[in-house]
Amino acid sequence: MQPATACAFSGLTIPWLRRCSSLRVKCSTSQRAHCASTSTADTAEPTEPIGPIEPIEPDPEPFKLKPLPYPFNALEPHMSKETVEYHWERHHRGHVDSLNAIIQGTEFAEMKLENMVLTSYNEGNPLPFFVHASQVWNHDFFWETMKPGGGGNPSGVLRDLIERDFGSLDELAKEIQNAALTQFGSGWVWLAYKRHRLGVGNDINPRPSEKDKRLVVVKTPNSVSPIVWDYYPLLAIDVWEHAYYVDYEV
Ligand SMILES: [Fe+2]
Repeated sequence: MQPATACAFSGLTIPWLRRCSSLRVKCSTSQRAHCASTSTADTAEPTEPIGPIEPIEPDPEPFKLKPLPYPFNALEPHMSKETVEYHWERHHRGHVDSLNAIIQGTEFAEMKLENMVLTSYNEGNPLPFFVHASQVWNHDFFWETMKPGGGGNPSGVLRDLIERDFGSLDELAKEIQNAALTQFGSGWVWLAYKRHRLGVGNDINPRPSEKDKRLVVVKTPNSVSPIVWDYYPLLAIDVWEHAYYVDYEV
């Protein structure tokens, strides 16, 4: 993230890529240089040419709730129409709306979602909107990993990696099931490829591990996505209560 820049022309502190309230344009490098060389903050007009004025750009589009890739009832009988509708329409949409409300007018509004997740995780000290950014990413991914009539035996490289790293598809299924059943509180279970490229910003344990460059089953708490540690997710199970209680409440 770029540091905030003090604008000597307008007297305002202007975060990177924010609009200057005096010029009504986005601060360009040349304009910032001009401002930095201007001695008084209350100058009404610039005293020297400042180069071409950039046109006012429209505000970034708010994030939109990604459409479901299938109808609400497409995952029955495994996941009911009511569960999918409630989960997507209420919970997923809620995180999109909350994220937009928090980042509006900040430099984060111009980031791609994945970069926002990585940045706001902030090396394990999450910024306030991380929960929403990460939950939007997680749910976008979650819906895409399922489809009507999906499943079956994997083939090719994926099958080879499963057999190498878990022994068999059955053993992988057992490990995923055990992880989901033992998840404490709300969170997620993932099948992911642990790339572990050393030096990635959020990596809290940069030491090489015997699990590097392998498929792993990993649990994450609350809204955390394993992409913050450079894992490459392949499958996700939402273990938040809202993902199943409509079908299983007693
Ligand atoms: Fe969810």
